Amino acid sequence: MSLFPNYHRAPVTFISAKNATWVDDHNQTYSDLSSGIGVYNVGANNPEVLTALTDQAANIWHVPNLYQNPLQETVAQKLGGDTYTTYFANSGAEANEAAIKLARLATGKSTIISFSNSFHGRTYAAMAATGQDSIHAGLPMLAGFKYATFNDINSLQALINDDVAAIMLELIQGEGGVIPAEPEFVAALVKLAHDNNILIIVDEVQTGIGRTGKKFAFENYDFEPDIFTSAKGLANGVPVGAMLAKNKLAPALAYGTHGSTFGGNPLSMAAASATLTVLEGLLPELEAKITLFWQKLSEFNTLASVTSVHGLGMMAGITLNIPVNRVVSDLLSEHIIVLSAGNNTLRLLPPLTISTEQLLKSLDQIKYYLS
Ligand SMILES: Cc1ncc(COP(=O)(O)O)c(C=O)c1O
Repeated sequence: MSLFPNYHRAPVTFISAKNATWVDDHNQTYSDLSSGIGVYNVGANNPEVLTALTDQAANIWHVPNLYQNPLQETVAQKLGGDTYTTYFANSGAEANEAAIKLARLATGKSTIISFSNSFHGRTYAAMAATGQDSIHAGLPMLAGFKYATFNDINSLQALINDDVAAIMLELIQGEGGVIPAEPEFVAALVKLAHDNNILIIVDEVQTGIGRTGKKFAFENYDFEPDIFTSAKGLANGVPVGAMLAKNKLAPALAYGTHGSTFGGNPLSMAAASATLTVLEGLLPELEAKITLFWQKLSEFNTLASVTSVHGLGMMAGITLNIPVNRVVSDLLSEHIIVLSAGNNTLRLLPPLTISTEQLLKSLDQIKYYLS
């Protein structure tokens, strides 16, 4: 055995992909409604991203953070404009580590409140922030993390004290089952944080880069977090993470407090810059596709195997009363790539660039399977 048994891998080997169609080593095609777990937001092998990546590869692949990196400045500007300051990492978990560290350094306080059912990654602080016992199982946990009940403002209120540095949340819990935060809950959370001088960290690792129909999910909730993180779709498949904070917090991540060898590497920055340009062009036309997506999904509510359908934008959860893992593997046999999440939920994260025809056809196939 050459690899650790920490993943369950389906018996299929993909060798190429274009937009929402993947090809296996027997030349069989599959329809992708997963975006490779929320990564290929602008479509697999997106031509603009491919060109940016290959052009960059022909010049220079790696420049340490000891030298100027104008590409990082470009991507930071595209992500956060003049409002936010950016730190680049290599993954979502790492971006969240940086967010937690910054919140503690900037406030001089230590407690991070996150939520039941949340997922923030597998490194130590990101794992500690994750509000799922199964993720902590068998491991000693870091101090300074508390968990409120998602969508329950009273449970959050009960944990507030003078040591709380930040409240950290996903606005749509992804791994936890595609559960949206209720707008009234978010409004009350924002007020509570403001009244108590507590920072808000929004984990946009899965919800960002157009996934909910806006560049970032917080735009649907009409507030600006103090800190937010991005990864997954940011460079459309090239490993990258980003932590952004309101400019006034920037001095707290002072020289020597944090760093990464590869963070903001030229390859990932070239891919991220191209991805964000493609995304800007896509966002205005996304609403019509999202409307069709949810019109079709509403038909699933009548199926006997479906308990509920929930989500936002191009991020949907279909909670089932039949075992979801079997559904995922059966659909793979039928050449449709989907995901599971949380409590027996089928999770759909189609590329934002999928054609309407392919999207509706794949949904019809899933509906037929579930009927
Ligand atoms: C909301 C959220 N945060 C953080 C992470 C961790 O990201 P990564 O796997 O890139 O470390 C994930 C991954 O699924 C995620 O969905």
